Amino acid sequence: MSGRFVTFEGIDGAGKSSHIEALAAWLRARGHAVLVTREPGGTALAEQLRELVLHAPMDALTEALLVFAARRDHLVTQIEPALARGDTVLCDRFTDATFAYQGGGRGFDAGVLAQLEAWVQQGRQPDLTLWFDLPAAMAAERRAAVRAPDRFERQDAAFFDRVRAGYAGRAEADPRRFAVVDATPAPAAVWAQLLAAVESRAWW
Ligand code: TYD
Repeated sequence: MSGRFVTFEGIDGAGKSSHIEALAAWLRARGHAVLVTREPGGTALAEQLRELVLHAPMDALTEALLVFAARRDHLVTQIEPALARGDTVLCDRFTDATFAYQGGGRGFDAGVLAQLEAWVQQGRQPDLTLWFDLPAAMAAERRAAVRAPDRFERQDAAFFDRVRAGYAGRAEADPRRFAVVDATPAPAAVWAQLLAAVESRAWW
C-alpha cells in the first residue's frame, strides 16, 4: 500500500520546521517509517540547486525552472520510492510554495507553473498539506530574531502578503487536501491544531 505524502507550508517565519520533527517523532513512536525531507532540496543535486535559488540573482522564470528541476530529482529518487515502500513522507515545502512565492510573491504566470507542475509531478499531489498561516508582520518579527536572511527572506512585507494570498488561493482551490493551522499562538497550541488535523485523517 502506498504511503502518505504530507507537506508543510507557510511564509518564512511561520515556525513550521520544529513541528515537522515533532510529527515525525509522533509517527515513529506509532511504528511508522518516516522520511523527513525538504524543498528545494532532499537530494545532492537538489541541494545544489537550493543554494543557487536562495542566493544567486536570477529572473522569475529561471527561479521557477530551478525549483521544478530540483523537485523532479527529489520526486523520482526519494519521494516516489519512499511512498512505494509504504513510508510516510513529511516534506518541508512543495509545489504550493512555488505558486505562493514565484506565483504570488514574484507575480509569475500561474498558468506556466501549472504546466510545469503537470510535467514534473505526473499527477502526484500531497495527501495532506499543513499550511501554517500567520500575518506577514508577525512572521517578519520572528525572522528578525533568528539569522541572516536569504533572497526570499529579504523581501518586503508586501511580497509576503502576496505569498500568503498565494497560499490562500491554493487552499481555497483544494480544501480537502489543505488543513489551515493558525500559526499565531504559542508552539503547544499550534501543535494541538496540527495533531487534530492529522488524527482527523485517521491514516496512521
Ligand atoms: P525554507 O523552507 O523556509 O527553509 P529555511 O527554514 O531553511 O529557510 O526556505 C526555502 C525558501 O525557498 C523559502 O524562502 C521559500 C523558497 N521557495 C520558493 O521560492 N519556491 C519553492 O518552490 C520552494 C519549495 C521554496
